[in-house]
Amino acid sequence: MPDGGSLAFFDLSAAEEESFRDAVLEGLARPQKAIPCKFLYDAKGSALFAKICKLPEYYPTRTEIGILEKNALEIARRFGRGCRLIDLGGGESRKARILLQALENPAAYVPVDISRDHLFEAAKCVAADFPFLPVIAVCADYTGPFALPPLPGGEGKRVGFFPGSTIGNFEPHRAEVFLAQCARLLGRGGEMLIGVDLKKRKDVLDCAYNDCQGVTALFTLNLFARINRELSGDLDLARYRHLAFYNEALGRIEIYIESLCDQDARVAGRRIRFARGERIHTEYSYKYTLGEFAALARRAGFAALAAWTDASLLFSVHHLRAEGDALRA
Ligand code: AVJ
Repeated sequence: MPDGGSLAFFDLSAAEEESFRDAVLEGLARPQKAIPCKFLYDAKGSALFAKICKLPEYYPTRTEIGILEKNALEIARRFGRGCRLIDLGGGESRKARILLQALENPAAYVPVDISRDHLFEAAKCVAADFPFLPVIAVCADYTGPFALPPLPGGEGKRVGFFPGSTIGNFEPHRAEVFLAQCARLLGRGGEMLIGVDLKKRKDVLDCAYNDCQGVTALFTLNLFARINRELSGDLDLARYRHLAFYNEALGRIEIYIESLCDQDARVAGRRIRFARGERIHTEYSYKYTLGEFAALARRAGFAALAAWTDASLLFSVHHLRAEGDALRA
Protein backbone atom coordinates (compact mmCIF):
# COMPACT_ATOMS: atom_id res chain seq x y z
CA MET A 1 0.00 0.00 0.00
CA PRO A 2 1.47 3.42 -0.88
CA ASP A 3 2.10 6.01 1.80
CA GLY A 4 -1.13 7.38 3.24
CA GLY A 5 -3.30 4.64 1.75
CA SER A 6 -4.71 4.15 -1.72
CA LEU A 7 -7.37 6.29 -3.32
CA ALA A 8 -9.28 5.65 -6.53
CA PHE A 9 -11.81 8.09 -7.93
CA PHE A 10 -14.72 7.21 -10.24
CA ASP A 11 -16.86 9.95 -11.73
CA LEU A 12 -20.25 8.46 -12.67
CA SER A 13 -22.16 11.73 -12.40
CA ALA A 14 -24.39 12.09 -15.43
CA ALA A 15 -23.74 14.98 -17.77
CA GLU A 16 -27.50 15.44 -18.07
CA GLU A 17 -27.75 16.21 -14.33
CA GLU A 18 -30.89 18.25 -13.75
CA SER A 19 -29.81 21.88 -13.78
CA PHE A 20 -30.65 24.26 -10.98
CA ARG A 21 -32.20 26.63 -13.52
CA ASP A 22 -34.56 24.03 -15.01
CA ALA A 23 -35.59 22.72 -11.59
CA VAL A 24 -36.29 26.22 -10.24
CA LEU A 25 -38.28 27.38 -13.26
CA GLU A 26 -40.28 24.17 -13.33
CA GLY A 27 -40.86 24.20 -9.56
CA LEU A 28 -41.93 27.85 -9.44
CA ALA A 29 -44.37 27.37 -12.33
CA ARG A 30 -46.46 24.83 -10.41
CA PRO A 31 -49.67 25.71 -8.51
CA GLN A 32 -47.94 24.44 -5.33
CA LYS A 33 -44.50 25.98 -5.80
CA ALA A 34 -41.60 23.76 -4.75
CA ILE A 35 -37.83 23.50 -5.13
CA PRO A 36 -36.11 20.11 -4.65
CA CYS A 37 -34.18 19.97 -1.36
CA LYS A 38 -30.97 18.73 -2.99
CA PHE A 39 -30.39 22.30 -4.18
CA LEU A 40 -30.09 23.50 -0.57
CA TYR A 41 -26.54 22.17 -0.50
CA ASP A 42 -24.37 24.58 -2.46
CA ALA A 43 -21.17 25.71 -0.68
CA LYS A 44 -23.09 28.28 1.44
CA GLY A 45 -25.89 25.84 2.22
CA SER A 46 -23.49 23.04 3.16
CA ALA A 47 -21.67 25.39 5.54
CA LEU A 48 -25.00 26.40 7.10
CA PHE A 49 -26.06 22.77 7.43
CA ALA A 50 -22.78 22.02 9.26
CA LYS A 51 -23.75 24.82 11.67
CA ILE A 52 -27.25 23.35 12.10
CA CYS A 53 -25.67 20.05 13.14
CA LYS A 54 -24.04 21.79 16.12
CA LEU A 55 -27.13 23.70 17.32
CA PRO A 56 -28.45 22.84 20.78
CA GLU A 57 -31.97 22.34 19.36
CA TYR A 58 -30.84 20.06 16.51
CA TYR A 59 -30.40 16.75 18.37
CA PRO A 60 -30.09 14.28 15.41
CA THR A 61 -26.38 14.62 14.60
CA ARG A 62 -24.98 14.33 18.08
CA THR A 63 -27.49 11.67 19.07
CA GLU A 64 -26.69 9.47 16.08
CA ILE A 65 -22.95 9.85 16.69
CA GLY A 66 -23.54 8.79 20.30
CA ILE A 67 -25.45 5.69 19.16
CA LEU A 68 -22.73 4.75 16.66
CA GLU A 69 -19.94 5.21 19.22
CA LYS A 70 -21.73 3.28 21.92
CA ASN A 71 -22.53 0.33 19.64
CA ALA A 72 -19.58 0.39 17.24
CA LEU A 73 -18.11 -2.90 18.44
CA GLU A 74 -21.40 -4.77 18.22
CA ILE A 75 -22.03 -3.30 14.78
CA ALA A 76 -18.51 -4.30 13.68
CA ARG A 77 -19.04 -7.83 14.97
CA ARG A 78 -22.28 -8.09 12.97
CA PHE A 79 -20.59 -6.99 9.75
CA GLY A 80 -17.64 -9.33 10.22
CA ARG A 81 -14.11 -9.08 8.91
CA GLY A 82 -13.24 -7.74 5.48
CA CYS A 83 -16.49 -5.91 4.75
CA ARG A 84 -16.80 -3.20 2.09
CA LEU A 85 -18.39 -0.07 3.56
CA ILE A 86 -20.41 1.91 1.00
CA ASP A 87 -21.05 5.35 2.47
CA LEU A 88 -24.01 6.99 0.70
CA GLY A 89 -23.49 10.74 1.01
CA GLY A 90 -19.88 10.12 2.01
CA GLY A 91 -18.78 13.71 1.35
CA GLU A 92 -19.01 13.96 5.12
CA SER A 93 -17.01 11.07 6.56
CA ARG A 94 -17.22 11.81 10.27
CA LYS A 95 -19.75 9.07 11.04
CA ALA A 96 -18.14 6.48 8.76
CA ARG A 97 -14.87 6.97 10.60
CA ILE A 98 -16.48 5.72 13.80
CA LEU A 99 -17.30 2.48 11.98
CA LEU A 100 -13.96 2.24 10.17
CA GLN A 101 -12.14 2.42 13.49
CA ALA A 102 -14.21 -0.44 14.88
CA LEU A 103 -14.41 -2.72 11.82
CA GLU A 104 -12.10 -5.70 11.57
CA ASN A 105 -9.89 -5.32 8.49
CA PRO A 106 -12.42 -3.58 6.24
CA ALA A 107 -11.62 -4.43 2.60
CA ALA A 108 -12.71 -1.08 1.16
CA TYR A 109 -14.27 2.24 2.02
CA VAL A 110 -16.52 3.48 -0.79
CA PRO A 111 -17.85 7.01 -0.26
CA VAL A 112 -20.54 7.94 -2.80
CA ASP A 113 -21.55 11.59 -3.20
CA ILE A 114 -22.75 13.94 -5.90
CA SER A 115 -20.58 16.82 -4.65
CA ARG A 116 -17.28 16.08 -6.41
CA ASP A 117 -14.99 18.44 -4.47
CA HIS A 118 -16.40 17.56 -1.07
CA LEU A 119 -16.12 13.89 -1.87
CA PHE A 120 -12.54 14.13 -3.09
CA GLU A 121 -11.36 16.06 -0.02
CA ALA A 122 -13.10 13.73 2.42
CA ALA A 123 -11.84 10.61 0.60
CA LYS A 124 -8.25 11.91 0.59
CA CYS A 125 -8.39 12.49 4.35
CA VAL A 126 -9.75 9.02 5.06
CA ALA A 127 -7.07 7.46 2.83
CA ALA A 128 -4.40 9.41 4.72
CA ASP A 129 -5.76 8.42 8.14
CA PHE A 130 -6.34 4.71 7.33
CA PRO A 131 -3.16 3.72 5.46
CA PHE A 132 -4.15 0.07 4.93
CA LEU A 133 -7.66 0.81 3.70
CA PRO A 134 -8.38 1.04 -0.05
CA VAL A 135 -10.61 4.08 -0.56
CA ILE A 136 -12.73 4.03 -3.70
CA ALA A 137 -14.60 7.30 -4.12
CA VAL A 138 -17.60 7.30 -6.45
CA CYS A 139 -19.06 10.58 -7.65
CA ALA A 140 -22.69 9.72 -8.42
CA ASP A 141 -26.24 10.73 -7.63
CA TYR A 142 -27.09 7.86 -5.31
CA THR A 143 -30.80 8.78 -5.35
CA GLY A 144 -30.96 7.28 -8.86
CA PRO A 145 -29.78 3.87 -10.02
CA PHE A 146 -26.02 3.51 -10.47
CA ALA A 147 -23.52 0.64 -10.47
CA LEU A 148 -20.50 0.29 -8.23
CA PRO A 149 -17.04 -0.26 -9.71
CA PRO A 150 -15.45 -3.62 -8.86
CA LEU A 151 -14.50 -3.64 -5.19
CA PRO A 152 -11.61 -5.49 -3.55
CA GLY A 153 -12.26 -8.17 -0.95
CA GLY A 154 -14.63 -10.58 -2.69
CA GLU A 155 -15.63 -12.52 0.45
CA GLY A 156 -16.54 -9.62 2.71
CA LYS A 157 -20.05 -8.25 3.03
CA ARG A 158 -21.15 -5.19 1.13
CA VAL A 159 -22.59 -2.83 3.72
CA GLY A 160 -24.46 0.32 2.74
CA PHE A 161 -24.26 3.14 5.29
CA PHE A 162 -26.89 5.87 5.11
CA PRO A 163 -26.72 8.04 8.21
CA GLY A 164 -28.28 11.35 9.19
CA SER A 165 -31.93 10.43 8.60
CA THR A 166 -31.46 11.64 5.04
CA ILE A 167 -34.02 8.91 4.25
CA GLY A 168 -36.54 11.26 5.91
CA ASN A 169 -36.31 13.65 2.95
CA PHE A 170 -38.09 11.06 0.79
CA GLU A 171 -41.83 10.57 0.95
CA PRO A 172 -42.44 7.04 2.27
CA HIS A 173 -43.24 5.43 -1.10
CA ARG A 174 -40.09 7.05 -2.53
CA ALA A 175 -38.07 5.88 0.49
CA GLU A 176 -39.25 2.36 -0.28
CA VAL A 177 -38.17 2.64 -3.94
CA PHE A 178 -34.82 4.04 -2.83
CA LEU A 179 -34.23 1.19 -0.36
CA ALA A 180 -35.21 -1.43 -2.95
CA GLN A 181 -32.62 0.13 -5.25
CA CYS A 182 -30.04 -0.05 -2.43
CA ALA A 183 -30.84 -3.77 -2.07
CA ARG A 184 -30.06 -4.28 -5.75
CA LEU A 185 -26.86 -2.24 -5.47
CA LEU A 186 -25.66 -4.27 -2.48
CA GLY A 187 -26.70 -7.66 -3.86
CA ARG A 188 -28.16 -10.65 -2.02
CA GLY A 189 -26.89 -10.78 1.54
CA GLY A 190 -25.82 -7.15 1.36
CA GLU A 191 -26.53 -5.22 4.53
CA MET A 192 -27.44 -1.66 5.46
CA LEU A 193 -26.89 0.53 8.46
CA ILE A 194 -29.29 3.42 8.31
CA GLY A 195 -29.99 6.35 10.65
CA VAL A 196 -33.66 7.26 11.10
CA ASP A 197 -35.10 10.07 13.18
CA LEU A 198 -37.84 8.91 15.56
CA LYS A 199 -41.32 10.32 16.10
CA LYS A 200 -41.48 12.37 19.25
CA ARG A 201 -43.21 15.30 20.94
CA LYS A 202 -44.19 18.06 18.53
CA ASP A 203 -42.55 20.81 20.58
CA VAL A 204 -39.14 19.07 20.46
CA LEU A 205 -39.42 18.64 16.68
CA ASP A 206 -40.68 22.17 16.06
CA CYS A 207 -37.70 23.58 18.00
CA ALA A 208 -35.19 21.41 16.10
CA TYR A 209 -36.26 23.08 12.85
CA ASN A 210 -36.79 26.59 14.28
CA ASP A 211 -33.59 27.27 16.20
CA CYS A 212 -33.45 30.50 18.13
CA GLN A 213 -30.28 31.71 16.38
CA GLY A 214 -32.09 31.52 13.06
CA VAL A 215 -29.52 29.30 11.35
CA THR A 216 -32.19 26.98 9.93
CA ALA A 217 -34.04 30.01 8.54
CA LEU A 218 -30.84 31.15 6.80
CA PHE A 219 -30.36 27.60 5.46
CA THR A 220 -33.85 27.59 3.94
CA LEU A 221 -33.68 31.14 2.60
CA ASN A 222 -30.27 30.40 1.08
CA LEU A 223 -32.25 28.70 -1.70
CA PHE A 224 -33.61 32.10 -2.72
CA ALA A 225 -30.21 33.74 -2.15
CA ARG A 226 -28.76 31.08 -4.45
CA ILE A 227 -31.37 31.88 -7.10
CA ASN A 228 -30.32 35.53 -6.87
CA ARG A 229 -26.63 34.60 -7.16
CA GLU A 230 -26.85 32.02 -9.92
CA LEU A 231 -30.00 32.78 -11.89
CA SER A 232 -29.89 36.59 -11.88
CA GLY A 233 -32.85 36.68 -9.53
CA ASP A 234 -34.11 39.77 -7.75
CA LEU A 235 -35.97 38.06 -4.90
CA ASP A 236 -36.19 40.42 -1.90
CA LEU A 237 -35.13 38.13 0.96
CA ALA A 238 -36.62 40.49 3.56
CA ARG A 239 -40.08 39.77 2.15
CA TYR A 240 -40.01 36.01 2.67
CA ARG A 241 -39.63 33.88 5.77
CA HIS A 242 -38.66 30.36 6.75
CA LEU A 243 -41.62 28.30 7.95
CA ALA A 244 -41.19 24.85 9.52
CA PHE A 245 -43.61 22.78 11.59
CA TYR A 246 -44.29 19.18 12.53
CA ASN A 247 -47.37 17.75 10.83
CA GLU A 248 -48.34 15.13 13.40
CA ALA A 249 -50.99 13.46 11.23
CA LEU A 250 -48.46 12.76 8.47
CA GLY A 251 -45.42 12.27 10.73
CA ARG A 252 -43.27 14.80 8.98
CA ILE A 253 -41.59 18.16 9.35
CA GLU A 254 -42.69 20.43 6.50
CA ILE A 255 -40.46 23.32 5.49
CA TYR A 256 -41.46 26.20 3.25
CA ILE A 257 -40.41 29.67 2.21
CA GLU A 258 -43.45 31.87 2.84
CA SER A 259 -44.13 35.11 0.96
CA LEU A 260 -44.89 37.93 3.40
CA CYS A 261 -46.82 40.02 0.87
CA ASP A 262 -48.17 40.01 -2.68
CA GLN A 263 -45.08 40.48 -4.81
CA ASP A 264 -43.37 39.43 -7.97
CA ALA A 265 -39.77 38.79 -8.88
CA ARG A 266 -37.60 38.03 -11.88
CA VAL A 267 -35.79 34.70 -12.05
CA ALA A 268 -33.69 33.75 -15.08
CA GLY A 269 -35.53 36.31 -17.15
CA ARG A 270 -39.04 35.17 -16.15
CA ARG A 271 -41.52 37.02 -13.96
CA ILE A 272 -42.85 34.97 -11.03
CA ARG A 273 -45.81 36.04 -8.88
CA PHE A 274 -46.09 35.27 -5.16
CA ALA A 275 -49.26 35.86 -3.17
CA ARG A 276 -49.16 36.98 0.44
CA GLY A 277 -48.99 33.83 2.60
CA GLU A 278 -48.09 31.62 -0.35
CA ARG A 279 -45.70 28.80 0.56
CA ILE A 280 -42.88 27.47 -1.59
CA HIS A 281 -42.14 23.92 -0.45
CA THR A 282 -38.45 23.13 0.20
CA GLU A 283 -38.24 20.02 2.41
CA TYR A 284 -40.01 17.18 4.14
CA SER A 285 -38.32 15.39 6.99
CA TYR A 286 -40.27 12.23 7.82
CA LYS A 287 -40.10 10.68 11.28
CA TYR A 288 -40.74 6.99 11.96
CA THR A 289 -41.35 4.76 14.94
CA LEU A 290 -39.04 1.73 15.13
CA GLY A 291 -41.88 -0.49 13.94
CA GLU A 292 -42.93 1.78 11.07
CA PHE A 293 -39.42 1.93 9.68
CA ALA A 294 -38.83 -1.82 10.02
CA ALA A 295 -42.10 -2.39 8.11
CA LEU A 296 -41.03 0.03 5.37
CA ALA A 297 -37.65 -1.73 5.09
CA ARG A 298 -39.40 -5.10 4.80
CA ARG A 299 -41.61 -3.79 2.00
CA ALA A 300 -38.41 -2.76 0.20
CA GLY A 301 -37.03 -6.30 0.45
CA PHE A 302 -34.90 -6.09 3.60
CA ALA A 303 -34.98 -8.10 6.79
CA ALA A 304 -34.87 -5.79 9.82
CA LEU A 305 -32.17 -7.41 11.97
CA ALA A 306 -31.68 -4.93 14.80
CA ALA A 307 -32.12 -1.33 15.82
CA TRP A 308 -30.32 0.82 18.36
CA THR A 309 -31.56 4.04 19.96
CA ASP A 310 -30.36 6.56 22.51
CA ALA A 311 -31.80 6.42 26.04
CA SER A 312 -34.21 9.30 25.33
CA LEU A 313 -35.59 7.63 22.18
CA LEU A 314 -34.73 10.59 19.97
CA PHE A 315 -33.01 8.74 17.12
CA SER A 316 -32.54 5.22 15.76
CA VAL A 317 -29.97 3.26 13.76
CA HIS A 318 -31.30 0.19 11.93
CA HIS A 319 -29.37 -2.86 10.71
CA LEU A 320 -30.98 -4.41 7.61
CA ARG A 321 -30.14 -7.33 5.32
CA ALA A 322 -31.20 -7.52 1.65
CA GLU A 323 -33.36 -10.58 1.02
CA GLY A 324 -33.62 -12.37 -2.33
CA ASP A 325 -36.94 -10.85 -3.37
CA ALA A 326 -35.58 -7.33 -3.49
CA LEU A 327 -33.20 -8.32 -6.26
CA ARG A 328 -35.88 -9.12 -8.84
CA ALA A 329 -36.99 -6.59 -11.45
C1 AVJ B 1 -30.18 16.35 6.26
C2 AVJ B 1 -32.41 15.91 5.60
C3 AVJ B 1 -31.54 14.92 7.59
O1 AVJ B 1 -34.25 16.68 7.74
O2 AVJ B 1 -33.20 16.99 9.60
C4 AVJ B 1 -32.17 20.09 8.95
C5 AVJ B 1 -32.11 18.58 6.84
N1 AVJ B 1 -33.23 20.79 7.23
N2 AVJ B 1 -32.72 21.27 9.24
C6 AVJ B 1 -33.24 16.98 8.37
C7 AVJ B 1 -32.50 19.78 7.67
C8 AVJ B 1 -33.37 21.71 8.20
C9 AVJ B 1 -31.96 17.31 7.61
N3 AVJ B 1 -31.53 16.15 6.76
